[in-house]
Amino acid sequence: MSAGATSTAGPKRARPRLLPGLSVKDGLIRHPFDLEFGVRTSGLVAGRHLGAGRRNDRHVTAYYAVAPSVFQSILVRWRRCRPQAPIDAYTFVDLGAGMGRAMLLASAYPFRAVVGVELHPALARIGRKNLALWRAAARTRVPMRMRCCDAVEFVLPAGPCVAFLFNPFGAPVLRRLLRSWSQRLASHASWLDILYVNNEQENVLAREPGFTRLFRGQVRRSNADLVTDRTILRHQPGREYAATIWEDCSIYRWKGRE
Ligand SMILES: C[S@@+](CC[C@H](N)C(=O)[O-])C[C@H]1O[C@@H](n2cnc3c(N)ncnc32)[C@H](O)[C@@H]1O
Repeated sequence: MSAGATSTAGPKRARPRLLPGLSVKDGLIRHPFDLEFGVRTSGLVAGRHLGAGRRNDRHVTAYYAVAPSVFQSILVRWRRCRPQAPIDAYTFVDLGAGMGRAMLLASAYPFRAVVGVELHPALARIGRKNLALWRAAARTRVPMRMRCCDAVEFVLPAGPCVAFLFNPFGAPVLRRLLRSWSQRLASHASWLDILYVNNEQENVLAREPGFTRLFRGQVRRSNADLVTDRTILRHQPGREYAATIWEDCSIYRWKGRE
């Protein structure tokens, strides 16, 4: 090729940089869930790396996907709480959906739809790819979509909803979210249950008028998930986070204000 000639391949597009915590050099170990299903939900991204230039950035906890066994156990608990409508009437909404692992797990149940809401564009982008792979592999027929926005701006879909929170944000965001839900639910009579895993801000929910606690307790990780999460978290630089056998969880139901 003579000097100055242009390549027919065209200019190379720079690969978007991975968030800290999502590359092998940051200690990333792929979760067996990803290896089994060919998706990408592994990794731990500390909250300080998840700034997206939005008002609630400073309240982000971290990105880490829920353990499949914990997800399945909280769903069992929820179904024991006698949902007010058949499960196929409910929309499952993951507030703080990350790369969508909880959404993929939820799509195994006959929900009316599965919706994810994720603040960080890079995580939402990976999540959308996962949903596309899931659909292409015909793993579900449940409609699924991922919205990239702040959970407090998201308007709950009409009809019964079950909201899933895996400790996504701090108390100020949770408080704002509950207030906006209360207002909406008071004017559009509907049903809402909240599944709160790793319920660090449990007090916020307990104090919010109109919500009643149906369950509070520890949900056990399977041994396989415990070994996996411990191995993954041992490899993170700085070792800020650790996996426990149990996740503190609660389930709340909107009962309405007196
Ligand atoms: C612990 S991860 C949970 C991921 C997912 N729910 C799962 O279980 O696989 C919490 C996620 O919440 C997101 N998040 C935090 N604050 C948010 C907000 N205000 N609105 C939407 N997403 C938020 C974070 O970016 C992070 O991806």
